[in-house]
Amino acid sequence: MAVLTQEQVDFMKARAGFGGLIVTAASYPQANGIGLPGQYSVARDSDVEGLSQLAQAMKSKGAKAILQVAHSGREAAIAAQQGLRVVAPTKMDFPWIKYPISEMSEEDIETLIADFGKAAQRAIKAGFDGIEIHNCNHDLVQQFFSAYSNKRTDQWGGSFEKRMALPLAIIKELHRVISASDKPDFIIGLRISPEEIHGENVGYTVDDMLKQTKMVFDAGIDYLKLSLTGLEYRYDSKPADHDQTFAQLFHAIMPKNVPLYIGSQVHTPADVNAALKDADGVYMAREALIVSRR
Ligand SMILES: Cc1cc2nc3c(=O)[nH]c(=O)nc-3n(C[C@H](O)[C@H](O)[C@H](O)COP(=O)(O)O)c2cc1C
Repeated sequence: MAVLTQEQVDFMKARAGFGGLIVTAASYPQANGIGLPGQYSVARDSDVEGLSQLAQAMKSKGAKAILQVAHSGREAAIAAQQGLRVVAPTKMDFPWIKYPISEMSEEDIETLIADFGKAAQRAIKAGFDGIEIHNCNHDLVQQFFSAYSNKRTDQWGGSFEKRMALPLAIIKELHRVISASDKPDFIIGLRISPEEIHGENVGYTVDDMLKQTKMVFDAGIDYLKLSLTGLEYRYDSKPADHDQTFAQLFHAIMPKNVPLYIGSQVHTPADVNAALKDADGVYMAREALIVSRR
């Protein structure tokens, strides 16, 4: 299990003044959720000490600090290297994956939901202001919503409604944990990939994700972030067969008290102003990474 390093804490401290809401890189809630080298864990109580240093560093210039939590599911290449059981909604052949994958049992899914709750408990203890559920970039939560990846026939797959059940269950568990804590204003953010289309393989369309997102609002989140990552997407990208951008489509369904954040390839003040026409806030990743040039 990876331990947060002083270098990672210092890296975030150097960027503490970059925005009003600073989000960590993805931390994993279960040992077999690690997808990238250097990712840090929120899977153990012993992680709280390091994470509290991270939260303190991120808040040192007054910003709110959010812990992003992501389970890589079938994409957990580092977990595979570590000999851990790599899991997915459905055991099937993914041509680009060279290690064995196990299908999750219903018990595995219940444990995953509970472990997101435990991650929130640890984030609260560590002094974070909120948690961001990573439901994007082909992680496990997205794998459940994807008709391409999820061929289950139980309560977690099959129909459209059942494929969207996992994020709703996680949000419910986070509310349970937060209301039992001493931090009732702890933030729940959600980061989504607005569509999953790879040529012939369609996991879900933007219209599907708009429907899921409306359900998520009923479950209760504090902000929504669109992941418009990858060479083909940027903050003003449009889905095929739509006249409006992703941002416009999602902005139109946002409840009044839930902000929409968009980003990707936002580099200049002109980009920020353009993005803000269709969103309530803008995120920047690579500009923050290269902050030392300023
Ligand atoms: C080195 C690097 C690491 C990233 N790590 C994460 C991550 O942990 N979680 C996440 O949601 N997105 C991650 N992203 C994606 C960014 O959040 C962002 O969507 C993408 O870089 C596009 O925005 P940008 O043009 O402002 O960089 C990462 C991007 C880069 C370049």
